[in-house]
This record gives sequence, structure tokens and C-alpha cells, in this order.
Amino acid sequence: PGEDLAQPDEFMTLLLVGQALAGKGGTFWMPPQASTLAPDIDDVFYLVYWTTVILFVLLMGATIYLAIAYRQKSENQRTHPTKGSHSLELAWASVPTVMSIVIFVMGLNVYIDSSVPPADSMDVRVVAQKWSWFYQYPDLGIESDTLIAPAGTNVRLTMYSKDVLHSFFVPDFRIKHDVVPNRYTALWFNAPEPGKHRVYCTEFCGDGHSVMLSEVEVVSPERWDRWVESKQTQGPLTGVALGEDLFTKKGCGGCHATNGSRLVGPPLNDLMGRDEALEGGGSVTVDDNYLRESIMSPATKIVAGYAPTMPPFAGQLSDDETAALIDYIKSLK
Ligand code: CUA
Repeated sequence: PGEDLAQPDEFMTLLLVGQALAGKGGTFWMPPQASTLAPDIDDVFYLVYWTTVILFVLLMGATIYLAIAYRQKSENQRTHPTKGSHSLELAWASVPTVMSIVIFVMGLNVYIDSSVPPADSMDVRVVAQKWSWFYQYPDLGIESDTLIAPAGTNVRLTMYSKDVLHSFFVPDFRIKHDVVPNRYTALWFNAPEPGKHRVYCTEFCGDGHSVMLSEVEVVSPERWDRWVESKQTQGPLTGVALGEDLFTKKGCGGCHATNGSRLVGPPLNDLMGRDEALEGGGSVTVDDNYLRESIMSPATKIVAGYAPTMPPFAGQLSDDETAALIDYIKSLK
């Protein structure tokens, strides 16, 4: 798993609607139900939804009917004196009260279920940063830029952010929570069937917010074992391979294309030795030192035509990692 994932595209909302219309297990309002929590959450949604639809039709119907049936038919027609009705008042107070209590109890139950991870959950740490996600499996000693999980297993996500407020959202699982710096937040899921599901950031976190996509891949227990084993026997990465891994993990690809196209930041292929015009005049010849400076302190020399939006990586990368990243960038043709 992991190798054959589709590139994130920017039309995820459309995809969700399309998915629903195409009937890929979803409905018009909801994406497919891919976790054990999803049916319960949808039940509450549809209870509120249908209650609202029925009340809307009844109330609007009654309003229109009464307005027509009891309209003033002549200039000197007077309003008939009306008396209060205790039973009617009791009904319109008690029926909505009971309905509210039912909705509250159902909602509270689902909320508690979704907030409290089962004790036997497998732990995964979710790390958010501008602008990517990555996942650590503390008990297995492995890391991944895609969340891989075995089917039918309770997975507890303990999440934090390295910079600003992000929000972790998997629509197919119906789970969503803010991911904040200096504090851990938690979610959990159990996905019964193998499959791939989109992860979104749903809190505006800067220029790259819309590209902050990731994927959950639920795999069969056999594929899970193979994946864990291949990850564990991989050995430490070095050189260009380490650079490429960091490039993915740090989310560089969200803003920098490697095929010459323009994203939030300039493309990174075929850079070495090139003379780049700089914002505010002047130019720089791209070499190892310029690449290093642009990673550590990106705002120092901005390529003409781009905004200084990249976060500085000073203090976030070791010397070895920085060199590997530069080697990877140099390898891009
Ligand atoms: Cu991270 Cu939006």
C-alpha cells in the first residue's frame, strides 16, 4: 500500500458531490459510511433532517392554507373572537420538548461514542504542519505520510500541530477534530472494509490550506502485516531517498511542483546553476547555499513573482536532513 495512491487534486468537494450522485455508497447529503461510527452519526443527521423537512412542509402548508381559507373576504368583515386552547398549547410545548430530548440523547450518545477511544485501540500519532500531515506508529516504530490502518481494528489518533491550528477531517469516517499546537487532541475510528478515504484539513491555516490533503488507506490484515514488515525492515534512508521522504513528509510538494508547473511556490526541478530574478530586484545563482538559505529562511531571497509565504524550517531539520533535501532537489530534472 502507499505506492499507487492518486495525487491529491483540488476538486475534493466536487468529488464528494460526484461520489454521492454517482451512488458510490454515499447519498446526496453524505459520503459513503466507512467507519463503525458513521451509521449512528447519520441516523442523528437524518432524524434532524426529516423532522425539519416534515415540520417545514406542515408549517408552510398550514400557513398558506390558513392564509387563503381565512383571508378577509369583504371590507367590513371582522375577525371572529378566538379563545385559547389549553390542550393545543400543551401539545405544541410538549411535542417539541420530547423531540428535542430524543435528539439530544441520541446526539449525546454518538458524541460520547466518537469522543472516547476504546481501550484496546492501536495508537497512531497524527502530526499536522503547514501544509501536510504525517503519521507515526509509536508501538511499531514506523512513520508514514499516508495513514495506513488494518480493517476492523480500533485506531486511536492522538494529534498535535507543529505550527498553527489545523483540523483533521475524514468525511467517510464522520470524524473531525481541531489539531492544535501545545496540546493533544484525540479521535478514533474502526473501518470494517479495506478502501481509501480522503483526509482534509478543515481549518484555514494559510496559503497551502487547500492542498493540505492526505489519505487513509484501510487494508486487509495480511496486507497490513506485510506493510508493517516492509516499513520496519526498510532501514534508515540516506541521501536522495531520505530527501525525497522528507519532501513528502514535510509537505513541500503541496507548494512546489517537481515538473515545472507553478503552484504556491516556484517549481524545484532543473534549478542548479540557474539565475533566478529576485523579488525587489537583483538575482541569485542557485547553488547549495541558496537552497539551504531558502529552506531555513525562505523570506530572505524571494523568487520574483512569488509571495513570501513559506514557513522557515530553521531548527526543524538536522544538517543531514537539510543536505539530503538539497540532494533530492538537485536530482530533480
Ligand atoms: Cu491545515 Cu488548513
